[in-house]
Amino acid sequence: MKVLITGGAGFIGSNFIRYWLKNYPKDWIVNLDKLTYAGHIESLKGLQSNPNYQFIKGDICDEKIVEKSMKGVDIVVHFAAETHVDRSIIDPTVFVKTNVLGTNVLLDSALKNKVKRFHHISTDEVYGSLGLDDSPFTEETNFAPRSPYAASKSGAEQLVIAYFITYGLPVTVTNCADNFGPFHDPEKLIPRFVTNLLMGKKVPLMGEGENIREWLYVKDHCRAIDFVLNKGTLGEKYLISGTELTNMEVTKKILALLGKDKSWIEFVEHRLGHDFRYAINDSKLRELGWMPQMNFDKGLEQTIEWYKKNGWWWKPLINGRPIVDRVAQKSYG
Ligand SMILES: NC(=O)c1ccc[n+]([C@@H]2O[C@H](COP(=O)([O-])OP(=O)(O)OC[C@H]3O[C@@H](n4cnc5c(N)ncnc54)[C@H](O)[C@@H]3O)[C@@H](O)[C@H]2O)c1
Repeated sequence: MKVLITGGAGFIGSNFIRYWLKNYPKDWIVNLDKLTYAGHIESLKGLQSNPNYQFIKGDICDEKIVEKSMKGVDIVVHFAAETHVDRSIIDPTVFVKTNVLGTNVLLDSALKNKVKRFHHISTDEVYGSLGLDDSPFTEETNFAPRSPYAASKSGAEQLVIAYFITYGLPVTVTNCADNFGPFHDPEKLIPRFVTNLLMGKKVPLMGEGENIREWLYVKDHCRAIDFVLNKGTLGEKYLISGTELTNMEVTKKILALLGKDKSWIEFVEHRLGHDFRYAINDSKLRELGWMPQMNFDKGLEQTIEWYKKNGWWWKPLINGRPIVDRVAQKSYG
């Protein structure tokens, strides 16, 4: 089986490539990645010598490179995207280009090359924001994206389903909660807080930390995709949940594991349009037999240990890179 991974130098994509080669060592992996600021070839250290692994540097919006990457491919797992909500507030256009137009280029090529499966990685953020008493999202919940990132992911996902209905392209979709684990870019909440504390800096918590997210260890996400590839129904989507926690709860757990108290929190303004709560009902996926193997506390402990041991990976990403978060608040608020 030949598997094309897009965005395999990113956080989840790189974890997925390692997962796949470990569990399906006879398969061939082609990793197509543009290596934007979020793509780190170092996340794939050690794989370059694997004869079943090939890296192609290229943009998913580039028809020629996509066509070259798609040759002989059986399965596409499409992770490549612009993913940082704060960056999408500053520059929505690049999100529309990569997330919507890039997905369209891949779909056309997958159709032309008669791939057996196109699996699209989407997010719970396409469903918007919940109140405290609202029921969790299900596969039937209407899209209500509130950030340019979420809107571009909704557009991509609707195109994927349209290619199934219109052209019969064999697709599946998963919408996952927030992930955490190794190789997570330090611009995102958990790695940002961990690396800040490891460097002796405070952690910037939006509002009073009241916003609620679900968190899933990245390897459980990889296993869920595997379940859907093997047991999912074509044309269907599957939601993937995690552990529901306020940002303050997550922050307190990180502080405790690193031996710090609440004085290490710096309270900052909310981002524009900050979604209050995401929550997911994933009973459809669980009917396929999937359930998470890692609980949040254990996963967080392991993640912190990973960041302690792997400064070689994250320190170069922090040095010299402008921090993109409250800049958006100040410029537009
Ligand atoms: N991280 C999460 O918590 C989470 C949760 C649910 C869904 N998702 C989805 O999972 C996917 C992967 O997320 P992630 O956190 O690993 O992202 P990431 O930002 O860490 O990685 C994205 C990767 O895509 C590549 N890329 C960006 N634009 C590209 C282009 N035009 N052509 C080719 N490659 C390009 C980047 O170089 C990078 O390697 C995304 O589609 C995201 O929407 C993420």
